[in-house]
Amino acid sequence: MKQKHAAAAIDLGATKTTVLVGSSDTEGHTNVEGFGMVESTGFQNGGIGDIQKVRAGIQEATRLAEESSGTRILSAIVGIAGEHLRSQNERGIITIADRNYPITEEDRERVLEMAGQINISTSQQIIHMLPRKFWIEGTEHVADPVGMYGTRLDAETHIIVGAASSIENLRLCVEGAGVKVDGFLPESVAAAKSALTDEERMQGVALIDIGASTSSICIYEEGAVSHSASLALAGEHLTRDLTQVLRCPWESAEQLKKTYGVAVSSMAPLEETVEIQAFGNPPEKTIQTRHVAEILQARCEEILQEIEVELRRTKTLERIAAGLVLTGGTSSLEGLCQLASQKLRLPARIGYPTRFENIPEEFSSPPFATSVGLLEYALHESNLSIQNTTKQHSSNIAWGGVGRRLRDFGKGFLPQ
Ligand SMILES: Nc1ncnc2c1ncn2[C@@H]1O[C@H](COP(=O)(O)OP(=O)(O)OP(=O)(O)O)[C@@H](O)[C@H]1O
Ligand SMILES: [Mg+2]
Repeated sequence: MKQKHAAAAIDLGATKTTVLVGSSDTEGHTNVEGFGMVESTGFQNGGIGDIQKVRAGIQEATRLAEESSGTRILSAIVGIAGEHLRSQNERGIITIADRNYPITEEDRERVLEMAGQINISTSQQIIHMLPRKFWIEGTEHVADPVGMYGTRLDAETHIIVGAASSIENLRLCVEGAGVKVDGFLPESVAAAKSALTDEERMQGVALIDIGASTSSICIYEEGAVSHSASLALAGEHLTRDLTQVLRCPWESAEQLKKTYGVAVSSMAPLEETVEIQAFGNPPEKTIQTRHVAEILQARCEEILQEIEVELRRTKTLERIAAGLVLTGGTSSLEGLCQLASQKLRLPARIGYPTRFENIPEEFSSPPFATSVGLLEYALHESNLSIQNTTKQHSSNIAWGGVGRRLRDFGKGFLPQ
């Protein structure tokens, strides 16, 4: 029988809190066994505004994921984003004591540990470390040094650091909801895991996850992450602009953006009008969709400009031949991908979390790139701890069809 290995991932977005439970077998196939998703509450300005509400959302999404998968979630990998994240690349060097023996796993661990020794203030914490490159004798660049001969081993790591208070508040919410944090992974790194091809990673690419409150960037060069960052500018800002300029309620602006919004004003028909809910009397008003597009385009250009500044600052703009891959809900805004390509003079495409098999169709859309990437990481790159639940509840999954299907998937999941 194929051995199964299970894991859970939590994506705390400003609009949705998603918990995914998955398994992989010895052949490396990934299955989504169940999920829970609730609308997020308690987030403010890209951070946690109300711990109780965020915790309650995690609790509910976890309960739904447990029900639909028939598992008990004890711990999970958690996504993290925010302007407080900083990244840097560091190098470490070790000597190999006995040149008659090949380099071992322990040597690799030791050099990575060396490369991870950085000075940070007490207000900061290391969130994540990714190996980037190895060199033998300082010059020979190798993908993996284990099993090769050498007397000196160098390694470079990509280190992501965040504000200790933000990290601890996030941990407080998750652990307060009864789930131990196995580790944090930057959301953009997670989205890159699920949405990029190997060729894009090799030739250089910028994954940009444009969600509701943050636009998270992850740059790959020569197959490894070279830079990651988060900007506090995304879909919510587009909606807010519409509420301010058109003087309408949030829901009305949100609907307008999703239904009629385009990122390039010339794409909106000149004479087209739409009636929306507005403040004041009468409570409706008629507006031109071209005007809506002009408001959206101005903000999209600002977001893209900030992304360009970040790419120029890190000198990566000229090194990403594969260009831009956009994920996150805001990437669905019509015309945004074309605008990004035109403004940054790079190829651009929308990214789907389709890199792995057996991801249900419902999770194969850009807003789920982060959740799927987190699950992939939890399954293949980190330790985990999930138990089978003793009771099978009746399902109360928001997306009934998927819930039922996923529950069937869960049969025989983990030893009874
Ligand atoms: N068709 C669409 N056109 C424009 N915007 C859209 C569309 N569909 C969704 N969005 C926007 O996408 C955003 C939600 O995206 P997503 O689900 O990736 O965010 P999140 O993960 O909850 O937030 P974050 O990652 O920023 O914390 C919202 O601002 C929503 O208005
Ligand atoms: Mg997100």
